[in-house]
Amino acid sequence: MKEIYLAGGCFWGAEHYFRNIEGVVDTEVGFANGDTPAPTYEQVYTDTTGYAETVRVIYNPDGLPLDELLRAFFCAIDPLSLNKQGEDEGTRYRTGVYYTDPADLPVVMKVFEEIQAEYSSPLAVELLPLKNFFVADGRHQDYLVKNPDGYCHLPLKIFRYPRLVSDLRHLLGDEPDLVARLSNAAALIKEKMGFFWVGFYLVGPSDNGKELILGPFQGSVACMRIGYGRGVCGTAWKEARTVVVPDVEEFPGHIACSSLSRSEIVVPIDRGGEVTGVLDIDSDELSTFDHIDAFWLERLVRIL
Ligand code: SME
Repeated sequence: MKEIYLAGGCFWGAEHYFRNIEGVVDTEVGFANGDTPAPTYEQVYTDTTGYAETVRVIYNPDGLPLDELLRAFFCAIDPLSLNKQGEDEGTRYRTGVYYTDPADLPVVMKVFEEIQAEYSSPLAVELLPLKNFFVADGRHQDYLVKNPDGYCHLPLKIFRYPRLVSDLRHLLGDEPDLVARLSNAAALIKEKMGFFWVGFYLVGPSDNGKELILGPFQGSVACMRIGYGRGVCGTAWKEARTVVVPDVEEFPGHIACSSLSRSEIVVPIDRGGEVTGVLDIDSDELSTFDHIDAFWLERLVRIL
């Protein structure tokens, strides 16, 4: 087992998120890298102690490599926001990665560089060795398990996705049949996340080459074939990247299978560097999908 200390804003939500990720063995909330010994929550709350609300994450590196855990961490924070996550403001809500094993530093730095490359302004996330850590009192441990309706700066879906990924892995087991796997995947995603339409299009033969052909899905009837580069699905296939569409009316060439669909996300399924299909999810509300859906659905399609 290994440990890393992650400050991601209010530790109630951050801990609830990490504890659901497959490969995380244990979590503990507390205060890291401050100035005074053994601070109380109330002292840290004054924002004068130098401490950051932090989660000690104990994980199994065989199932969850550190770089993957860190990417999941970055998915749950605004890495450009200094001393503010959600509506929570103060140095106690700063973001940071504090390591205890110097051998972890190259891995952490590589992920920081990778994330930095996605932005034009500098990351506001600290990267330091752990100086000190004091465990918060029992009220704050597993806070959102004890208080399911308690305050949280993170959106609910971020807690559902890690469970969905692990449920799917268990559900599919070692079933080799692709139709069986995709059928149950579509059903599980629809049931757990409540989306309007969930389905797969698989690359298959057409008269003039290849196109996407409708595969297992859950929802209303859909168009059966989509050309390379056509619509949102064909774009995700052509560009081999996840496409998030906040408003389908604004996406040139969007193919409307249902007039009720308002926003959409399409994630390519990659096999050995080749896109073999896509996962397409539609919502009947605007702006349903963002980087959180993209991050976790990309993890999910790897299982398929
Ligand atoms: N809207 C998709 C077509 C598939 S349906 O959403 C099920 C697109 O533009 O590719």
